[in-house]
Amino acid sequence: MIPESFIQDLLHRVDIVDLIDAHVPLKKAGANYAACCPFHNEKSPSFTVSPQKQFYHCFGCGAHGTAIGFMMEYSGMGFIDAVKDLASRAGMQVPEQEGRRREQQDGPRVVDLVEVMAFAAQYYREQLKTSPKAIDYLKQRGLTGEVAARFGIGYAPPTGLRDGKLDYNDPRLVAAGLLKVGDDGRRYDYFRDRIMIPIINPKGEVIAFGGRIIGPGEPKYLNSPETPLFEKGRELFGLPQARAALRETDTAIVVEGYMDVIALAQHGVGNTVATLGTATTTTHVQKLLRQVDRIVFCFDGDNAGRKAAWRALENSLEALPEQKTIGFVFLPEAHDPDSYVREFGKDAFNRMVAQATPLSDFLLRELGRQCDLTSAEGKAKLVADAKPLLQKLQTPLLRLQLVKRLAEISGFSQPEVERLCELRTIAPPAPARAPRQSPAATFMRKLIRLILQKPELALRLPVDALPDEVPETRTLRRLVAVVREAGEPAPGYALLLERLRGSEDDQMLKKAASDLMHEPFAEDEIEPEFAGTLAKFARDAQADEIDALKAKAAALGVAGLSAEEKARYVALLTARGKPENAS
Ligand code: UTP
Ligand code: MN
Repeated sequence: MIPESFIQDLLHRVDIVDLIDAHVPLKKAGANYAACCPFHNEKSPSFTVSPQKQFYHCFGCGAHGTAIGFMMEYSGMGFIDAVKDLASRAGMQVPEQEGRRREQQDGPRVVDLVEVMAFAAQYYREQLKTSPKAIDYLKQRGLTGEVAARFGIGYAPPTGLRDGKLDYNDPRLVAAGLLKVGDDGRRYDYFRDRIMIPIINPKGEVIAFGGRIIGPGEPKYLNSPETPLFEKGRELFGLPQARAALRETDTAIVVEGYMDVIALAQHGVGNTVATLGTATTTTHVQKLLRQVDRIVFCFDGDNAGRKAAWRALENSLEALPEQKTIGFVFLPEAHDPDSYVREFGKDAFNRMVAQATPLSDFLLRELGRQCDLTSAEGKAKLVADAKPLLQKLQTPLLRLQLVKRLAEISGFSQPEVERLCELRTIAPPAPARAPRQSPAATFMRKLIRLILQKPELALRLPVDALPDEVPETRTLRRLVAVVREAGEPAPGYALLLERLRGSEDDQMLKKAASDLMHEPFAEDEIEPEFAGTLAKFARDAQADEIDALKAKAAALGVAGLSAEEKARYVALLTARGKPENAS
């Protein structure tokens, strides 16, 4: 048997894009690469390779897999040969192993670690119930039992896992970062006498813990070490719990602390996640921007907070696509989001988020602070400091905006700024061809993706209620028509694409398919996403209607509204007064 760890290392080392490109020439298509599928006959490319996921998928025939899978399918090799072939390309030596012993040396497998983490989390939760000290601490911090349960909070007693059901000698406990082995070879618990906060991945698995000391003391938080399950720079605390609220608000609030996420959730601000004692990484930002259109970083108002915000800005620039926005909130000195929401409440907090400083303002303000803008040297420094940042930006509109403002502040002309910053030209977007994507278009695109992934949803789409003004609607209606025409069972993606090939909707569908490849909906997310998108769309349409009637009433006086319009207005306002989640 080839050890799991070797396979993981191998997949890390090999780049699937290079590998496949050597056999099937790939073309860049957005974040992915595309080609005509080598596994079935087709004229237009539905075979997609994702560099981020190191995975290929064909929307036409459903073939998919990793680099190893590709070698097996493409060359007809068996698993072992495929691994050996890839290893030799990567300059790696496949370990010649003798069965189980080798496997043990290489440590337990990831799935086994998931199992012990789940056991530990369960044990900590049970222990919390029997510890008045831990319960008091949480109560004194204002946490309800409900929110504690929602985040799976527990308590590691001073004896750690020693009295639990897990075998203390189980090597998996060490590999999972729950136990440490001392110099004398003795094992002891990593977490003792701490409030235990599990970090959960999108699959719902506990992958790490943050342990807070009860009361004052050092270190305040102890975090799981990095393990095969847990890589700090990729994970966000609170992401699975925030799912629904992210969808609802289309905004992710990023804070620094576990307790900030928990306190905000308790006060009804559910769309919050935290980095795990590290700076915000590009991976974090990419992850979030796949789920929402807007990120708001919320940091303390002190120096450290500003530094953290700047790091977040630097790491966001290259991950920022057009149409997505990033903002910054700086809390009053001596507050963190936890204390702020407790003192001033949800509405005040949400107001700060709504009025967040845009990325461009924060960028220019911070650069400006470091230069004496009254001197020629200072102005030159400003442009020089801006250079590496502007070079990272992939969004022509935002970059152009920044260049203009830099020109204004520095006194250089716009072309001079561009030259000094050595900005390669990104083709300026033609406004007629690339209109700003309206919210309606965003909804329609999501619906297209949902239907591509699960065509039978088309049958439940209220086509007549869709907005006529966006081109997405036409595509969506055609899609629905094809599904209806085909009858039961609903056709798969390949057939949908085949029917609409060459039509005006081809491009739109390709784009949707590529997005879907990048981030398919989880099976159990499809229904809530579909229902949620329709509900949100209906709410937006209603809000527009209210605004229109309000504007008319303001212009003409209430007498200017017909009896019908008045009744409609009242009905709309009454409907809006109902709790949102009742819909
Ligand atoms: P803070 O020191 O701001 O703590 O650290 P906090 O979140 O306000 O915690 P409470 O309210 O006192 O309980 C912010 C984050 O930095 C990481 C943790 O992720 C924490 O939530 N941190 C902090 C550590 O990892 N270790 C520490 O010792 C302190
Ligand atoms: Mn705090």
